[in-house]
Amino acid sequence: MSSPSSTGRFVGIRPVPTELFDAVDVIRTKRDRQHLSSAQIDWVIDAYTRGVVAEEQMAALAMAIYLNGMSRGEVVRWTRAMLASGERMDYSSLRRPTADKHSTGGVGDKITLMLAPLVAVFDVAVPQLSGRGLGHTGGTLDKLESIPGWRAALSNDEVLRQLDEVGAVVCAAGPGLAPADKKLYALRDVTGTVESIPLIASSIMSKKIAEGTGALVLDVKVGSGAFMKDLADAKELARTMVDLGSDAGVRTVALLTDMTTPLGLTAGNALEVREAVEVLAGGGPADVVDLTVALAVEMLAAAGRPQPADEVRAALGDGRAMDVWRRMIAAQGGDPDATLPTARETEQVVAGQDGVLTALDAYAVGVAAWRLGAGRARRDDPVQAAAGVELHAKPGDVVTAGQPLMTLHTDTPERFARARQALDGAWRVAPVGSAVRPRSVVLDRIH
Ligand code: URA
Repeated sequence: MSSPSSTGRFVGIRPVPTELFDAVDVIRTKRDRQHLSSAQIDWVIDAYTRGVVAEEQMAALAMAIYLNGMSRGEVVRWTRAMLASGERMDYSSLRRPTADKHSTGGVGDKITLMLAPLVAVFDVAVPQLSGRGLGHTGGTLDKLESIPGWRAALSNDEVLRQLDEVGAVVCAAGPGLAPADKKLYALRDVTGTVESIPLIASSIMSKKIAEGTGALVLDVKVGSGAFMKDLADAKELARTMVDLGSDAGVRTVALLTDMTTPLGLTAGNALEVREAVEVLAGGGPADVVDLTVALAVEMLAAAGRPQPADEVRAALGDGRAMDVWRRMIAAQGGDPDATLPTARETEQVVAGQDGVLTALDAYAVGVAAWRLGAGRARRDDPVQAAAGVELHAKPGDVVTAGQPLMTLHTDTPERFARARQALDGAWRVAPVGSAVRPRSVVLDRIH
């Protein structure tokens, strides 16, 4: 207990720092559609990180930003303030340039697994500090954790050593990296304020700039399975992030890519690792291979080591990327030869009629995989390594009545019913001969 001292001051109580602003005034400013000043932004991010601005106050401010937006100047300052809330990695001691990729999140998006080792083949180091999945989109760390022994937590020294020795590292972002975003993203997730262009752009870019990469390629997903459902919004998000990166001295490029249907043939942790290994062995679905190559070409060019697409594709086919993958997994305690977990139960979803599959909705498949146990509803929930959805047909394929369209995988069969509900109406089969509009994976490029 503290008690008054002879000078009348309370001993043992920390002096309350004099605050520059009042959180309520900052909220009112944005609520009333006025610009936040740089000083207000710096203060509110810092005070929120210190716990002086309460969660409910930040929730109100996030909603005001969601509803009323931010000017370019405000987004730049907000990003800088979140960056300043933590440490910034420094790779200047490495012998090679660095490049990273960030995806805004999609269904079946296992690209990082092949991309990091592929880019490292060409002597560009890939420091990929990742997160876990939340909601219907999967997380790269959850996928890798399905490999027996693999560990996500590395110290900064271990990251540097692995980048030097192997050339690629995918691991958990430490608590010191943009801590303001860690708190704010968790809050946005439960207050309906995720889908805001200024908040998404500043969240992603504060982490990526703090990560210390020299070059960055953004994979901005567009479609039902993505945050951005339409191309115009996705372009605005890409433009905002590219400008934030470039202003901070990171060579930044964005590809807008299709997320109306899942990437590849799997959504779920071990299922996606298995597909990634197929790609690294020279096979795998064409959309996954094409996007991996397109992103690798961009990363290598942005890092100042350009390579033709054919040469990059060859490194997937001839085992060079697989060699780096094996070393990358082993360096983090994983066994690249271990058998991946398989689900205790499976069920098939079959086509009801003959025809051509003309649509298969990414969001529905993502929700089904999540309900089967592949994803989490809250940040600390466990995930099932083997749960998910395996696709047997993609839009454009001819199907016959009774043919399996998907296999659902889970360890807990009581989940099948809710997963099937999510898939209700998620695909369309049209009469044989119906045209399916071909849609390339890469829709646009912003630089
Ligand atoms: N990913 C992030 O890191 N932040 C967002 O706000 C959205 C997606």
